[in-house]
Amino acid sequence: MSHTLIAPSVLAADFANLQRDIEMINSSDADWFHIDIMDGVFVPNISFGMPVLRDIAKHATKTIDVHLMIVDPDRYISTFKNLGADILTVHYEACTHLHRTLQAIKAEGMKAGVALNPHTNISLLEDTIQDIDLVCLMSVNPGFGGQSFIENTYDKVIALKELINRKGASTIIEIDGGVTSKNAKQLADAGADVLVAGSYVFKSEDPTKTITDLKALLAS
Ligand code: DX5
Ligand code: ZN
Repeated sequence: MSHTLIAPSVLAADFANLQRDIEMINSSDADWFHIDIMDGVFVPNISFGMPVLRDIAKHATKTIDVHLMIVDPDRYISTFKNLGADILTVHYEACTHLHRTLQAIKAEGMKAGVALNPHTNISLLEDTIQDIDLVCLMSVNPGFGGQSFIENTYDKVIALKELINRKGASTIIEIDGGVTSKNAKQLADAGADVLVAGSYVFKSEDPTKTITDLKALLAS
């Protein structure tokens, strides 16, 4: 991929002004919508669920990238397709039969993603990388926005890029958690294709400008 994509995380939006924040992403330089679904079991937090995603998808005009932080995600693959997901990412740590889960996501016509927690080693994807459209490297422990970036992520991006190239896969690399202007360029240079940014975008004074500035920094 020639330029790095930005996927604002709706988790950091103002839920009482959700349509306003969705329109902001639509009209900004952002590339995707990143949607965090948490079940209070896989992660110690509950975000929002199906009816909210359905309404987001009604207004969103860009790719909808859904990050499932739930146990047993196989139960909901077709549900998320029907709700409007374009990319469906499950956690490595939540899937006993990951290969089967990936095939099921693709059979629904979605791109299949796998997220790795900070403690999960890249080498565990040796046997599935060719079946994965996107790997989401968690650069914080999943469950909350606004946490600080884990520096070991740079080495993981490099190791993942090496694995993708060695296997001749076309997998893209997404980074999720604590992304700011301080680490964005170094992540892109290491091989990241998509950067998720929640708090850094939505808690800034001018989110539209923050997105534009991030894109400019990445293109520099
Ligand atoms: C964390 C979520 C992230 C989160 C990122 O569990 O997966 O997508 O919204 O938020 P920031 O950018 O604030 O770390
Ligand atoms: Zn996420």
